[in-house]
Amino acid sequence: MTDQKNSPSLPTLFAQAGGAIDPQTGGVVPPIQSATTFVRDEDYAPLSPNHIYSRDDNDLARLVESMLAQAERGEAALLFPSGMAAAVSVLRTVAKGGRIVMQTGIYWGVTKWARDFCARRNIELVEVDCAEPGVLQAVTGPADIVWIETPSNPYLKTSDIAVCANHAHKMGAKLVVDSTAATPVHSQPLTHGADIVMHSATKGINGHSDVLAGALICADATTPIWQDIVVDRHDAGAVIGSFEAWLLIRGMRTLPLRAQRMSANALTIAQTLQDHPAVARVLYPGLASDPGHEIACKQMSDGFGGLLSIRLHGGFDAAHATVGKLQLFKRATSLGGVESLVEHRHVIEDSVPDDLLRLSVGIEEAQDLIDDLNQALT
Ligand SMILES: Cc1ncc(COP(=O)(O)O)c(C=O)c1O
Repeated sequence: MTDQKNSPSLPTLFAQAGGAIDPQTGGVVPPIQSATTFVRDEDYAPLSPNHIYSRDDNDLARLVESMLAQAERGEAALLFPSGMAAAVSVLRTVAKGGRIVMQTGIYWGVTKWARDFCARRNIELVEVDCAEPGVLQAVTGPADIVWIETPSNPYLKTSDIAVCANHAHKMGAKLVVDSTAATPVHSQPLTHGADIVMHSATKGINGHSDVLAGALICADATTPIWQDIVVDRHDAGAVIGSFEAWLLIRGMRTLPLRAQRMSANALTIAQTLQDHPAVARVLYPGLASDPGHEIACKQMSDGFGGLLSIRLHGGFDAAHATVGKLQLFKRATSLGGVESLVEHRHVIEDSVPDDLLRLSVGIEEAQDLIDDLNQALT
């Protein structure tokens, strides 16, 4: 469990990798332990009590977990081999006959998995737009989990975490927040009443588009749901390897800097594009005109994230032509990396409007990105 009072500020915690050094040599970078198993002495006692088998006994994974728990102001964290592995380990705790309330218009992979899972297990899945005021409150009766994603991908909607937590608790449910687009730099949902925060650490937390990982952080490690998740991760073996954990730590050292720069770039781009004649709408919570701006200001700090979407006049053809002309923005899925990416999401997810382009804004010079967008939109 983390000692929240004595936790250093996030930039200090991350730059120093939680204070880790190599105990053998004093190296300022923690070493990669590649062993999967650890020897015992003549009496069969482990040489090191915390090192028996690396499914759970991985010091680098433990270090990432401790950094994330402190950053999110949580009691404990668990690392997973992908964001989806983290997400489903929460949803899988719901027993047959249970009930899940899930926000609409969130990352498609979570919705798809939840629909299949709930159908198989005879669990009621209620899909509502939790970002719209009063909509979640209209759902009554008991539930096990309320799942929101804020800001949401790809619509960048903002849900009021405190309001959702309050209603979830009235229903007897736990509030889980997918905070991937916000990263721990811009939002700490547990401080607004959420019970569990989920991240695809593949995105901004790692930030270099070279590791798949996921994380869960809880407000209370003694709750039965968290205990179930701990046991399930161990028993089901959904763990990350040492090299991936090491890469994550290296990426996380610069997370606060990267997140601030990406947010600043995204805001500049959003403000510029909202006046562009080819652009019908910019979806970004950092814009004063955005419907979620007021709530985002209340529950986000230091920026609004590097993800934004634009809707173009001219439908599919305009979006297709624009995406094809971009030169700096790479045409690739995913988000949160140092390099800017663009996705014509409709092509892979046909429920997304065909005029929508999702931009994951990186750390390049903002003006270079704006020039690229301007030439492509012309
Ligand atoms: C908001 C969000 N949540 C979860 C995921 C799933 O994460 P992963 O790809 O690491 O499994 C993604 C992936 O795009 C995402 O954007």
